[in-house]
Amino acid sequence: MSEKNQEMENIVSLAKRRGFIYNGSDVYGGLSGTWDYGPLGVALKRNIMDLWWKTFVEDREDMYGVDAAILMNQKVWQASGHVDTFVDPLCEDTVNHRRFRTDHILKDNGVNPDGMSMEQMDVTIAEHGIKSPDGNPLSKSRTFNMMFETLIGPAEEKPTVSFMEHGSIKIEMGANTYIADGTGEIRAGARGINPATSYLRPETAQGIFTNFKNVVDSFYPDLPFGIAQQGKAFRNEISPRDFVFRSREFEQMEIEYFVHPDKWQESFDSLLADIKSFLGSLGLPADKIHELEVPEEDRAHYSKRTIDIEYDFPIGKEELLGLAYRTDFDLMNIQNNSGKSMEYTIKGTNDRFVPHVIEPSFGVERALMAVMSAAYTEDEVNGEKRIVMKFPEHLAPVKYCVSPLLKNKPELVEKAREVYQMLKKKHGNVMWDDNGNIGKRYRRQDEIGTPYCVVIDFDTLEDGTVTIRDRDTTEQKRVNIIDIEK
Ligand code: GAP
Repeated sequence: MSEKNQEMENIVSLAKRRGFIYNGSDVYGGLSGTWDYGPLGVALKRNIMDLWWKTFVEDREDMYGVDAAILMNQKVWQASGHVDTFVDPLCEDTVNHRRFRTDHILKDNGVNPDGMSMEQMDVTIAEHGIKSPDGNPLSKSRTFNMMFETLIGPAEEKPTVSFMEHGSIKIEMGANTYIADGTGEIRAGARGINPATSYLRPETAQGIFTNFKNVVDSFYPDLPFGIAQQGKAFRNEISPRDFVFRSREFEQMEIEYFVHPDKWQESFDSLLADIKSFLGSLGLPADKIHELEVPEEDRAHYSKRTIDIEYDFPIGKEELLGLAYRTDFDLMNIQNNSGKSMEYTIKGTNDRFVPHVIEPSFGVERALMAVMSAAYTEDEVNGEKRIVMKFPEHLAPVKYCVSPLLKNKPELVEKAREVYQMLKKKHGNVMWDDNGNIGKRYRRQDEIGTPYCVVIDFDTLEDGTVTIRDRDTTEQKRVNIIDIEK
């Protein structure tokens, strides 16, 4: 195993062992592409999301938050282009029928698929004689739509079968009709989308666009302004992999920033600067953050310019988030499909137009994975190896751990509980730990990244001082209880 894969393995193992992240549905053998957050994972994820919300919404005058429904009218996804174009190239092992993302197969075989059409990928596979990971020939690729479909209301998809003249059979299912005419082929008759069909949203962005007019009508903000949303997104990824990096259910933190069409560039640049400063506050080292100007052929169907922010994860340099200039693509589509005007009038003028949009789109799991990998450290204390998560203090899931030196001394326990309650009232994320000896407690707290361990001993009862130990330096100081936070 390479050093990098080993580092990833170590982080995954720590995440499970210490209660950050477990496999989804683990008890039943798991469900690929899903993850459950344990007590520390929830706390870390919340801290990242709250910091984002504070930075991009609460601390600014030009941002408005929304929380739209995950299930949306199917017209949203038709108008946005997702029904037709939100696809990945899929190929199949011709022997065991396992399916793979064609671009991933190429990447895993040392070929860069960026900018290739699906046909070019197939040609490259043939030219290089690339086989499936199981060593079998691969089929030609086809597109696979990544949206999860669901039916709203009691609209079961039961086929009705009827016999037609000449022995043909007609099968009707929802809005689709299929004709089996005895040739062995099934022809699609009238195809359509079942009116009861909806999708689990593949991005939070559309819940923002569909509320653009509502926010303008309620607040009439000056341009430029942004609408922000955090929440779950779902994609039926062909090959979820690399821990939480590519999941089927994940969270996004997105902003649609509405601008005058002539002024998109300045907002693009200033949002890029804001993003970089936010990544600094996540504790990510600047030299591991890279900007990729995405070439036209690799941009999403709606984008005129995209910069991907990549990060040196243990799995390699990969996309952490994106910043895209979506033009008026989405609002225009909504206007054309809903018949409702998406125009904005500059106050006190006749200047009326459909705003253009800059979109910073963060994935929470990728931010969390970057934070965990930046924090993961192995060092030595007094000749003994230790693992320590050096989270920035404001992100650490537990800020203080409080312990009595000995758990069988009621007077120490009582005093320690007092200190614990005092800190907990103020911070919430304070842990009580009286298991094992002090050394073991320190190791455990290092692994979950607790910046400070506070120990109550017999001197505390005499003079009101406690020992406070710093996670990073392992230095211990004696301070008065009232000075713990200084
Ligand atoms: N609204 C634009 C949009 O959704 P995207 O590049 O498809 O753009 C934005 O996704 C971000 O969402 C990515 O940069 C990544 O951080 C995150 N993301 C996308 N797919 C993901 C997946 N399968 N698992 C985890 N995060 C994902």
